[in-house]
Order: sequence, then C-alpha cells, then structure tokens
Amino acid sequence: MAAVPTLSEGVITIRPIRARDAKALERELLDNRGWLRKWEATSPHGPMEFDARYSIRGLQVSARSGHGLPFVIEYKGKLAGQLNVSGITYGSLASATIGYWVSERFAGKGLTPTAVALATDYCFFQLGLHRMEICIRPENVPSLRIVEKLGFRYEGLRRRYIHIDGDWRDHFCFALVAEEVPTGVLRRWLDGGVPPANAVVPQGDRLAASRPIL
Ligand SMILES: CC(C)(COP(=O)(O)OP(=O)(O)OC[C@H]1O[C@@H](n2cnc3c(N)ncnc32)[C@H](O)[C@@H]1OP(=O)(O)O)[C@@H](O)C(=O)NCCC(=O)NCCS
Repeated sequence: MAAVPTLSEGVITIRPIRARDAKALERELLDNRGWLRKWEATSPHGPMEFDARYSIRGLQVSARSGHGLPFVIEYKGKLAGQLNVSGITYGSLASATIGYWVSERFAGKGLTPTAVALATDYCFFQLGLHRMEICIRPENVPSLRIVEKLGFRYEGLRRRYIHIDGDWRDHFCFALVAEEVPTGVLRRWLDGGVPPANAVVPQGDRLAASRPIL
C-alpha cells in the first residue's frame, strides 16, 4: 500500500483527501456544476446520485489497496480541486493515470500543471512507477494546455474511450515515462526545458476525432 503524501510548490499543495473534506468538496462541486459537467465521468448505466462521503470512502479504499493516490488541490490553504492518480499497476507495467479538476474561481493560476508535476514526480521517484498517462477530450482546450505546458508526449486517439457527460467520448492520450524526465517534471517545466512539440496532436487524429466512428 502507498501512503498518500502532502507535496507543495509555493502556495500550491496537494494532500490526501480526508473524510472531513466531504462538505467543502460537495459545495465546490455544486457551485461549479456548469463548469465541470462537460468533463465529468458518468455511468453508462444511467444517472447516479453523488454522495461526497461515499466517493471519498471509495477513493480511500483504492488508496489502501495501493491502486490510487487521491489528492485534493489547495491554493493558499483553500480547497481548490482534486487530482486523482488511479489505476496504479506495479510489476512490468508500473503505470498509472491522472485525472483532475479545479473550481472556476481558481482557474488560470497554474494550479493544475503544478499539481500534476508534483504527483507525477512522486509516482516516478518515490513509488518507482515507469509511465504516467493523461487522457483528454479533444474539445477540452484548457486541459490540453496542461499536457502542453508539462511536455506529456502525444500517444494517440482512443475512440469512444471514457463515458463523460452522458456518452462515450473520444480522448487524446498523452504519457511520460520516467527516463524522459531525469530531473523531474516540475523542475523541467520551471527551468523552461519542456520540448515544445511533445503534446502536438497530428492533424489526422484531430480530423478522425471530429468524425463519428460508425
Ligand atoms: C482544465 C483545468 C483543470 C485547467 O486547470 P488550471 O489550474 O486552470 O490550469 P492553468 O492555470 O495552467 O490554465 C490552463 C489553461 O486554462 C485556460 N484558462 C485560464 N483561465 C481560465 C478561465 N478563467 N476559464 C477558462 N479557461 C481558463 C487557459 O487556456 C490556460 O492556458 P494558459 O495558461 O496558456 O492561458 C481546469 O480548466 C478545469 O478544472 N476544467 C474543468 C474540469 C476539467 O476539464 N478537467 C480535466 C478533464 S481532462
């Protein structure tokens, strides 16, 4: 089992989610319905009721089993969003996926790239994972900026990959492997050393994503 650490860069912190975050989390999610809905994972079996306490418990169970690192993102000590490392596998795959959101009033302050860099460096250099992945809907321009800023490398188009906002949605997949960032993702970004074209999506995949699969 991996303990969930607290990690900071300046006024931005990621720390383990706690049961007592439920109220604040529920408030942020309710206040940001319009902001988040288009990007939120949904169930293919129909609408499900959201219960923050239940959701936090699920994340904590996943953390205890070693399969996830559930963080909240804080800005100057205030709960600003969530970053979740999920699907952690060890052994010869040694890989995981990152998801995230911040409330609208905290957008544009660099919280997410900082949080992603902190979490990725922890996974590479403390947990010993080898590959970190981020999947993003083609329409999500602000989120595509995160992988551009940090130099996650474009890997390909996944058709109808995740159920988001009520349907199966195409995603662009980006990843980094540990040997690409010997000094760490955060250091490389802050030092201005990110390769500029890593996250560029080829025109062919952009076109394919704009067409129906059938
Ligand atoms: C995508 C998201 C996580 C980015 O987080 P962030 O902490 O704002 O990241 P940044 O500060 O680096 O800003 C990224 C881009 O968002 C855009 N942006 C900035 N302020 C914004 C605002 N007030 N409203 C909308 N977009 C904004 C800009 O394009 C910015 O890029 P730039 O820095 O080159 O100008 C955030 O917009 C969000 O939570 N969106 C809703 C949920 C979501 O999309 N989750 C990700 C699913 S893959």
